[in-house]
This record gives sequence, C-alpha cells and structure tokens, in this order.
Amino acid sequence: MSKCSHRTASSLASACLASLWLLGACVGSSMSASASAEQPASSQTPASTTPANDSYPGVNSVAKDRDMWQELLGANTKIRRTVRHTETGVEAVTESDDPAVAAKIIEHSKAMQARMKVGAQVRFWDPVFAELFKKHGAVSIEVTPTDKGVRIVESSADPEAVVLLRSHAMGVSEFVREGFKAAPRQTSKFKVGDPLPAPELAIGGVPHRFLLTQPDAMQLAGLKSAGVAVVINFRKPAEHPEYNEQAAAASTGLTYCNLPYAGAAEITDELLDSARAAIKAADEKGDTAALHCRTGNRIGPGWAAYRALDKGVPVEQAIGEAKAMQMVDPLMETKTRDYIRRKTSTASAWTPVAPNSLTHSQQTQRQLALDAKDAMG
Ligand code: HEM
Repeated sequence: MSKCSHRTASSLASACLASLWLLGACVGSSMSASASAEQPASSQTPASTTPANDSYPGVNSVAKDRDMWQELLGANTKIRRTVRHTETGVEAVTESDDPAVAAKIIEHSKAMQARMKVGAQVRFWDPVFAELFKKHGAVSIEVTPTDKGVRIVESSADPEAVVLLRSHAMGVSEFVREGFKAAPRQTSKFKVGDPLPAPELAIGGVPHRFLLTQPDAMQLAGLKSAGVAVVINFRKPAEHPEYNEQAAAASTGLTYCNLPYAGAAEITDELLDSARAAIKAADEKGDTAALHCRTGNRIGPGWAAYRALDKGVPVEQAIGEAKAMQMVDPLMETKTRDYIRRKTSTASAWTPVAPNSLTHSQQTQRQLALDAKDAMG
C-alpha cells in the first residue's frame, strides 16, 4: 500500500494525498521554482538592434531569417523537440504534425546552419548565441530532414563550444515550450564540467519536462536550477535500489511524487487518475514538473490521459505526444485510449465543462447527454 508524506502543506501535497492513496508517495516542498535565483536574467531586445545588412554570401537577409523565427515562435504549440546530449555536442529532433510548420523548421535550420558556417551572427545581445557564432569554425552541424521536421547532429572538439551547443539546444527547447515569452530572455549557459543534462522531450506550449531516462541526483539539481519544482517518477523504487530518488529530490528542494508501475499490465484507472491529479496539482500551483521513468515509455499513458481529459487536446494529438515520449508498448496505448473513452463519456454527460475546451466529438457527445438528461426531467 502506498503512502504520501509531506514536509510542508501544499496544494500538490494535498492533491497527492487525495489521489495517490493507492499508488505512490509525494513529498511536498515549499520552495518555489519561479523564485529560484538561478533563473536566467531577463533582457529585452529591440528588433532594431539586430543589424539589417546582409553582407554574407549564401546567407539570408536578417529580415528574412527574423520572419522565419517569428513564425516558428508563433507556431510553438505545434512543435515537439527531443534533445539528447553527448560528450561532444547534441543530437536534436524537432518536428511538427503541421506540414507548413515542419517545412519552416527545415528552412530555419538550414538558414541557421548557413549562418553558422560563416559566423553571420544573430541575437548578438545573448551571450550564448554571440559566443557560439564566434566559435563557428569549431562546430560541425549535420542537418537531416525527417518526415515532419529536422534531425540535427552538432559536435565540436572544443569543450567551450560543446557547452555552448548544449546551452543553445536547451534555449531552442525553451523557445518551443514558451514561444514568444522565451524570446527576449537570455539563454542559460552551462559551464565546462557541468553534468550532462538528461535527454528530454519538449512539447510546444507545455511548461512540464519529459525526461527520457532515469535522472541522477546531479541532473535533478540541474532541473531545479532551471525552474523545475516537482518530480513525478513512474518507476518502482525497487528498480533503482542503490539510489533513493525521494531523498535526492528532498535534498534539492524538489517536491517528489512516486506513481510506480511496471508496465501496461499494471495500468489501472487509479494510476491514471493519480497521474492526472499530480500534473493538475502542479498546474494549479504554477509549478513546472519533470516526469520520468526509465525511458519515457511509462510517462505516456498518464500524460495522454491528462491532455485529452483535462486540457481538451484531441485524443490523436495526446497519443502522439505520448508516443513522442517513447510510449512504445501498443498495450499501453490501447489501455490509455480505453480509459480516455470511458472517462470522456462520464465527464461529458454530467460535468459542466466550458464548451470551447471540448473537441468536436466531445461537444456532440455532451449535447446528446444533456438532451437525454433534459428528457429525463
Ligand atoms: C520555436 C522557435 C524555434 C525553433 C523551433 C527553432 C528550431 C531550431 C532548430 C531545430 C535548430 C537546429 C539546431 C538544434 O536543433 O538545436 C535551430 C538552430 C538555430 N536557431 Fe532556431 N528555432 C527557433 C527559434 C529561434 C530564434 C528565435 C532564434 C533567434 C535568433 C533562433 C536562432 C537559431 C540559431 C542561431 C541556430 C543555429 C545554431 C546552432 O545550430 O547551433 N532560433 N533552431
């Protein structure tokens, strides 16, 4: 039987208490991510400070490139991005289901690769970008279009350039998560010797972080510095007996939530209810959560259920997000779809929900249910 323990009273803690009775443990922390002193400094960038001339052969005008990144920032909610850090650089896949946005991603990456080749800098007020362009000669970039966007492999033998690549990659993920809101902010800079960040998926418009691995204590500390307040772990503690994640999270000041299950066979309504409740509790507090298991596979069901049922995201999109975070087991998908279907008909029949937060089929279902209710007097 699971239990929740709490260091401080918090809405997350109470939501965990209410909903995780069957499945896991939550340890509340009073520290607020948004109050972290290590948040990146804010800096406004008047567009006019970017040089307007283009004296580089084979490179777009700044105006053209600016239009392109403005479009991408505006389309951020249609973009997903996976970043894996290596000892010598980063590998990133950035994609969109919208073909026009996918084409923009490819066009932008190629345009930026051309700029990097000759050091034709943009965003020079932001040290990570300015220094990266200075180091352009030390960086190799491979751009490979995928069906829905682009795969990038960037590397360097220069350790300073490697941390700039790493910092830039995390900065682009911030653009994806936050769109225009992230654009005027200086990019956080890693230092040589910092631990490699965990590989992760960024979902456009979503503040939460999706780790594609088991994070270690150093990586948890890095997440805390980057503004994460809550860790939601879907692994059983027995899977990592040598590592007490609850203690590691507590010593870093992170709220810890454990919703353990071993695989598709152990997915229950209670598990998915609890995952939704934990994410909603973080939302209500304005906290950023980092979700993880060992590979990302087990994050998917709870996330897709939350997106479809609590955020009104179309089911196919919610399942697509779960797959992007490596939900590879078809049985997990089936059980998740089944849960969403059952909960949708219950919710749409009797719960008053703002009509514009429903999908078309949810609205139809809801109307039918309300008509039936009226008919019953
Ligand atoms: C949602 C918005 C954006 C998306 C999806 C995006 C996507 C990308 C992608 C996929 C790359 C290839 C490197 C990588 O994958 O890490 C890249 C590189 C680059 N982007 Fe963007 N970008 C966005 C916004 C911006 C903005 C606002 C700027 C500002 C000037 C910018 C400047 C650059 C530069 C300079 C590079 C080349 C540096 C390098 O490849 O290491 N991007 N971007």
